[in-house]
Amino acid sequence: MNAKIIGTGWELPAYEADNNYLSTIMDTSDEWITERTGIRKRHLAKEETTTSLAAGAAGKALKASGLRAEQIDLLIVATITSDTETPSTACRVQAELGAVNAVAFDINAACSGFLYAIHTADAFIRSGIYKNALLVGAETLSKLVDWTDRSTCVLFGDGAGAAVLTSSEQGGVTAQTVGSDGSRWEVLSCTGRSNHNPICQEPAGPGFLQMNGQEVFKFAIKTVPLCIEDALEQAGIPAEKVTYFLLHQANKRIIQSVAKRLKQSEDKFPMNIDQCANTSAASLPILLAQMDEQGRLHSGDILVLSGFGAGLTWGACVMEW
Ligand code: COA
Repeated sequence: MNAKIIGTGWELPAYEADNNYLSTIMDTSDEWITERTGIRKRHLAKEETTTSLAAGAAGKALKASGLRAEQIDLLIVATITSDTETPSTACRVQAELGAVNAVAFDINAACSGFLYAIHTADAFIRSGIYKNALLVGAETLSKLVDWTDRSTCVLFGDGAGAAVLTSSEQGGVTAQTVGSDGSRWEVLSCTGRSNHNPICQEPAGPGFLQMNGQEVFKFAIKTVPLCIEDALEQAGIPAEKVTYFLLHQANKRIIQSVAKRLKQSEDKFPMNIDQCANTSAASLPILLAQMDEQGRLHSGDILVLSGFGAGLTWGACVMEW
């Protein structure tokens, strides 16, 4: 049995901050951000929280799936911006939805989080342990970025996307590649917790996301094509047969570079980065859910989802819609 998506949903905060607005609060410009990244605006949470965005997207995905909340066996939220250190965002979403029979937990794999969630749910569904899984990617990165560091803060946005997967004899996830390289954790990190135990008094670190942008860029354009090729090889599907490549929306130039390396038309690489910026773990499920809502996905379509992020982490999966 394969894990197949039967419902999707997305939710963005109401407040939109475009590049021109950012240029009024820091030394940047619409021209610089658009040319280097493809981003024109991002949504920033004001009233919304990671939990409220996650629950909103999850509720819509559940409704679209036709399942009742009690039928969900597994509820995973991929996030690096949980509102609470504990409990997990997943437990709070479970409570919001009334998914009383689900085992709920978070995954911290940064921008690869949704792919890690698919990887995990697929294993549980394939093995027969669980039948129905609700996966959410949700972030309020605006609380994690340093708003005095123009080289990172302009890149990120807030939002959530979700998908319900069920065991199916036909279609669904057919191949996956995921990977991690912890030796390169400092390329993209957020340290900050202080220690005040009786024998050790360590001050807090910077507390904001810190990134070597060029290293991340090089890592992405090298790793993403390789892991997509690996997943396609496992699936026995040539790149030409893929309907859409949904890539993590981090930078338009990264997506264009991957399209070029795979020798595929850019038309097969849908983007919403101009509207949403980089929403980390939420980026792939938001894009997927928006395409689903727009009626752009049809039964039998072959989709490749791929992403990369802090850890370092990466992944790709092939699925039949
Ligand atoms: N507005 C205006 N100028 C800016 C700026 C901003 N928001 N941010 C940086 N600059 C300036 C720099 O200070 C630098 O100025 P200098 O030449 O006078 O020193 C200049 O722009 C070039 O900076 P650089 O870092 O070399 O730009 P870049 O072409 O490498 O683009 C990124 C920077 C961050 C857009 C690019 O490296 C990138 O996208 N990396 C991947 C990041 C990513 O995807 N992270 C998420 C992973 S999940």
